[in-house]
Amino acid sequence: MLNFIEGILIDVARLQHMEEKVIDETKQGETLVLDAKEGNTKKLFIESYGCAMNFSDSEIVASILTKEGFNTTNTLEDADLVLVNTCSIRDKAEQTVRKRLEKYNAVKRINPKMKVGVLGCMAERLKSKLLEEEKIVDMVVGPDAYKDLPNLLKEVDEGRDAVNVVLSKDETYGDIAPVRLGGNGITAFVSITRGCDNMCTFCVVPFTRGRERSRDPKSIIEEVNTLANQGYKEITLLGQNVDSYLWYGGGLKKDFKKASAMQQATATDFAQLLEMTAKAQPNMRIRFSTSNPQDISEDVIHTMAKYQNICNHIHLPVQSGSDRMLKEMNRQHTREEYVALVKKIWEIIPDCAISQDMITGFPTETEQDHKDTLDLMERIKYNFGYMYKYSERPGTMASRKMEDDVPEETKKRRLTEIVDLQQKHSAYRTKAFLGKEVEVLIERESKKNKEEWSGRTQHNIVAVFPKMHYKPGDFVKVKITNCTTATLIGEAI
Ligand code: SAH
Ligand code: F3S
Repeated sequence: MLNFIEGILIDVARLQHMEEKVIDETKQGETLVLDAKEGNTKKLFIESYGCAMNFSDSEIVASILTKEGFNTTNTLEDADLVLVNTCSIRDKAEQTVRKRLEKYNAVKRINPKMKVGVLGCMAERLKSKLLEEEKIVDMVVGPDAYKDLPNLLKEVDEGRDAVNVVLSKDETYGDIAPVRLGGNGITAFVSITRGCDNMCTFCVVPFTRGRERSRDPKSIIEEVNTLANQGYKEITLLGQNVDSYLWYGGGLKKDFKKASAMQQATATDFAQLLEMTAKAQPNMRIRFSTSNPQDISEDVIHTMAKYQNICNHIHLPVQSGSDRMLKEMNRQHTREEYVALVKKIWEIIPDCAISQDMITGFPTETEQDHKDTLDLMERIKYNFGYMYKYSERPGTMASRKMEDDVPEETKKRRLTEIVDLQQKHSAYRTKAFLGKEVEVLIERESKKNKEEWSGRTQHNIVAVFPKMHYKPGDFVKVKITNCTTATLIGEAI
């Protein structure tokens, strides 16, 4: 999640990589470019893979390197420095990056002066091993070490390999104003927490991104205000587990108990941060992602209901509908508790859209466990979801304690079954908007039709409609007249 986020709805996901959850399928591996700064002579090519947090981190990296004399380029062959921000969540994500490194290698043969750095989760997971395995890599930098980039670059310039994969207790990059790369100037991500303490047994994130810490609410609100002044219309508060947000003056979430009475009494939690954000910019849409069911509080749901500019959508990964699997995955709730939570959400916000993440073929998953997942989906009828085959990640509890024993064919078949069911539910949810009026924030031209705009409703459903006199960034009332599985089609009114 950071996964990670909205964007590919199920039908697109099916056609492309069913398993990759991305911000926007077209953005994976996108090279990010910004306006050149005068006087800067070196060229940076930066590419990002994986979750929204990685795309957001690349903006921080670009901001740091702008001050080091770099301008960005989208031509690999021109680059003095190539950086790839990587993802480790599934083996496939790592293989994609390995392929890119091969491509860089070919270019490096023509331009031997070009330097290559690996950033992000693969850097953290593999550390200096990456230098041995991938001979072309000059620099390995973990997600908490980006401020050290100027020093690391110096080392590389002096002919040494450079590695910094130290994870931090308090790094949140709150003091770095990220440059906005490759965006549409309308929607932006704002990081609020880093790391994760949940230790789901399948997940590599706690190892690659470290312990959970929150960013100073003041710097968050300042960033949101700056974005508003720049004309942005929607922000997504971002974290591996946003509901766990807790600011008490800095430091790790787990050390909150040790904080002073004063610090504890004046702490800011996620519901409060959400309220502060909604109030600071009442004309901006506010989203957040990702919510872990065990950490979302009723206060958060009430805050969503209270502020009209907080979008009625919760990304609420469940991973499985089987109690036995949830336990093995170390998810801290049962299936019934999850259903009760969704009911509570609908009690307070009757039209709240809910989306899921699901893993199929976790070790020891039986046909009955799989049926429980289908059954849970049938009960919730999610608006959309991201579904994956289990991929064993070295170092995680599951890889140490459990055998990856569900055959590939079975994983595939089960994945197809849940994807098909999700498509049915997406269609059902989308159809419910027929004849209704929705507010759409225009983001871009529709890819299928040059005469139409494409945007999203507050429920995070893509909607397209004839352009008329409207322009990107406008909020438009649209009457829905038709739909596909994942897209609403209508006319401005
Ligand atoms: N809290 C995060 C979750 C990060 S991982 C967030 O911000 O979204 C995103 C999703 O990838 C998880 O919800 C899970 O469904 C999936 N995932 C994580 N580890 C996986 C693994 N080992 N194999 C398959 N899918 C995995
Ligand atoms: Fe991973 Fe679970 Fe955290 S899925 S990111 S360990 S909430």
